[in-house]
Amino acid sequence: MDYKVTSMSPEQTRAWGKHLGGHLRKGDVLALIGDLGAGKTSLAQGIGEGLGVTRPMPSPTFTLIHEYDGQNRGTKVRLVHMDLYRLQHPQEVEVIGVEEAFSEDTICLIEWPEIAEDYLPENHLMVEILGSGEKPREIIFHAQDSDWEERIKDIIHSRERLGGPQ
Ligand SMILES: Nc1ncnc2c1ncn2[C@@H]1O[C@H](COP(=O)(O)OP(=O)(O)O)[C@@H](O)[C@H]1O
Ligand SMILES: [Mg+2]
Repeated sequence: MDYKVTSMSPEQTRAWGKHLGGHLRKGDVLALIGDLGAGKTSLAQGIGEGLGVTRPMPSPTFTLIHEYDGQNRGTKVRLVHMDLYRLQHPQEVEVIGVEEAFSEDTICLIEWPEIAEDYLPENHLMVEILGSGEKPREIIFHAQDSDWEERIKDIIHSRERLGGPQ
């Protein structure tokens, strides 16, 4: 089931990320899909904020993998932020150690995850961002199982209760 929300500005995308980050759990893997400039990094930075990451989170375009310390429900969590845009072959996914981020003490965000499709854990969440330039963005949560459906419904409803932008 797909759940859509709209973001009218970079700030709203980041705020959505922050809200989402506050609801993530250790072991979650999020595949962030969308064209160049859609807002994947902006969303990831918001997620980092929601997880209490205090260091700046630059785009991992050239460095591929960044790691941060965050807080998740009062305990420490490792946040891994990847950008696989520059990978050419699926074998490189193994070489750079993408799978090491799929662990119970980690929350993992992957921009351009397509090349790693065969390596992603089955229960990852696909988040797609549509739109470009100064236009509004649609953020689509593709919940592929009932667990994610329940969680996404709760995340969207709790944002409505907070009076946030829809
Ligand atoms: N509603 C919006 N949400 C996110 N980014 C937006 C929005 N409107 C304009 N932008 C701009 O689009 C760009 C998104 O960049 P970035 O997050 O790096 O995208 P990506 O990682 O998908 O390539 C930023 O320059 C941002 O200011
Ligand atoms: Mg990016």
